[in-house]
Amino acid sequence: MLRNDKILPLHVAQSPFLALIHQECFEKPWEETFFATLLSEEQTICPVVGWLAVKDEQPAGFILARNQITQTEILTFCVRPFFQKQGIGACLLEHLQSNTSHPLLLEVAVDNQTAISLYQRHKFEVIGNRPQYYDNCQGAPTSAHVMRYRT
Ligand SMILES: CC(C)(COP(=O)(O)OP(=O)(O)OC[C@H]1O[C@@H](n2cnc3c(N)ncnc32)[C@H](O)[C@@H]1OP(=O)(O)O)[C@@H](O)C(=O)NCCC(=O)NCCS
Repeated sequence: MLRNDKILPLHVAQSPFLALIHQECFEKPWEETFFATLLSEEQTICPVVGWLAVKDEQPAGFILARNQITQTEILTFCVRPFFQKQGIGACLLEHLQSNTSHPLLLEVAVDNQTAISLYQRHKFEVIGNRPQYYDNCQGAPTSAHVMRYRT
């Protein structure tokens, strides 16, 4: 990312456009109210944290994670198609890695090679599998890898 681009903390007021970005990136997008619920949990014992990448003054993508007692789970992570393949995903992931002292965990569909490569380049390793974890819009089940990054 260039010097004028930014990574900003997420807050609940951004829920409407987080839902719009999510819709551009996933077959089964999350509702605005779901983002609002997650982001209003910041005061709880397992707070949700996240960052928004802004490029050329436009929201380009975001990462959302839950800090648990001994680990941080990536809940969702996306970059809008127009902004993909410019290093924004890598920037968001590195930002999360440098802002947590716990291992990071995530699930990723076994056929999502772009995301898997990105995670592997950032030292995530596959530690397990979840058979038939996702359903696509046609109802076809897809398995997921569980990946972990150790700080
Ligand atoms: C996965 C995702 C977040 C990656 O975001 P991104 O901003 O495109 O990620 P990056 O640009 O850092 O890296 C992606 C690719 O672009 C390449 N790239 C990065 N900067 C580049 C540049 N300036 N020029 C050309 N290619 C570049 C990277 O090398 C990488 O290549 P690869 O796919 O061959 O490994 C994005 O594809 C996405 O939102 N996908 C849909 C949602 C999703 O699957 N989320 C993950 C769920 S687990």
